[in-house]
Amino acid sequence: MIPKLNIVPFVSVDNMMKLVLSIGVERFLTELAEVVEEDFRRWESFDKTPRLAAHSPEGVIELMPTSDGTAYGFKYVNGHPKNSRTGRQTVAAFGVLADVGNGYPVLLTEMTILTALRTAATSAVAAKHLAPRGARTMAIIGNGAQAEFQALAFKSLLGIDKLRLYDIDASASQKCRRNLAGFGLDVTICGSVEEAVQGAEIVTTVTADKQYATILTDNLVGSGIHINAVGGDCPGKTELHADILRRADIFVEYPPQTRIEGEIQQLAPDHPVTELWQVITGQIPGRRDPRQITLFDSVGFATEDFSALRYVHSKVTGTAFFEELDMVADPDEPRDLFGMLLRAAA
Ligand SMILES: NC(=O)c1ccc[n+]([C@@H]2O[C@H](COP(=O)([O-])OP(=O)(O)OC[C@H]3O[C@@H](n4cnc5c(N)ncnc54)[C@H](O)[C@@H]3O)[C@@H](O)[C@H]2O)c1
Repeated sequence: MIPKLNIVPFVSVDNMMKLVLSIGVERFLTELAEVVEEDFRRWESFDKTPRLAAHSPEGVIELMPTSDGTAYGFKYVNGHPKNSRTGRQTVAAFGVLADVGNGYPVLLTEMTILTALRTAATSAVAAKHLAPRGARTMAIIGNGAQAEFQALAFKSLLGIDKLRLYDIDASASQKCRRNLAGFGLDVTICGSVEEAVQGAEIVTTVTADKQYATILTDNLVGSGIHINAVGGDCPGKTELHADILRRADIFVEYPPQTRIEGEIQQLAPDHPVTELWQVITGQIPGRRDPRQITLFDSVGFATEDFSALRYVHSKVTGTAFFEELDMVADPDEPRDLFGMLLRAAA
């Protein structure tokens, strides 16, 4: 059957949850990580641009487009750290995948849940190449919406089985531990960052605050650890003390965007960084030395959302986990758009 061109599959929040659960969260993260990694391997075939950001005192709204020449994708996403006080998400998103050949959308989907999955999958892909071999313990500082996804991606891809949680709001850590019960992780709630990083080979920072915060200070960072810095992703919003950055080997997604938004906004614009895709393709080594401090300065890049869109598109096809949206005005006679409008009155 030839698909109707005006009909676009739409994956609602409800259907995204059903899709993820039908696949299994850990399998979803593992498969998505494979797609993310595959797309990093063909980095040079993507159109790349720093995301377009509209800032306000309360937060940011961003558009993240990219294309591999065959498909085009974009995500709309916000970042409003104070939103949780009024019962809203800090990060909410949706996205579109389109056919470059004719420009028609082929998928519209919620991306709030999908962003948490893709961010965690990307962090784990980076850690696979950068974290100390055999790492079993991860500290997670900031136990909000992203935290469990990070925990499960690191469990599935790296074999992390011990978590040390810290959040300024202890109820967030308790929520995280409750949600992770049954996933085979040994979870300890800690009373400070200092306590949380004890014995951790990987430290994930995933807090939300629209300011230059200092979640990790230099004295807390021992040699040999891998830092997965996720929460600093906006101009004026960072998590790490600059001294840590000066001791670490820094790995980034797309330098023109990370220089504006990442932890490295605190450093000189020519401070050396390594692009993650070059590590993934084997052009540049990741971890070279057991004492080396590696830092993935994650801000989230459009290709990762593109990977997530194309993974979801492949997975929903043939399932019941989407609705059909009458989204594109598509008259039988292409030039008779007005005629189609008039006929709707009949
Ligand atoms: N890099 C990326 O690709 C990417 C993707 C998604 C989200 N993010 C960022 O990750 C961050 C977390 O997102 P979220 O959806 O989990 O937010 P959230 O609001 O649900 O959770 C943030 C948590 O951080 C805690 N927190 C704030 N300040 C803290 C501090 N000083 N010490 C310890 N904990 C602290 C809060 O109490 C809260 O529980 C945000 O800044 C968001 O913009 C980045």
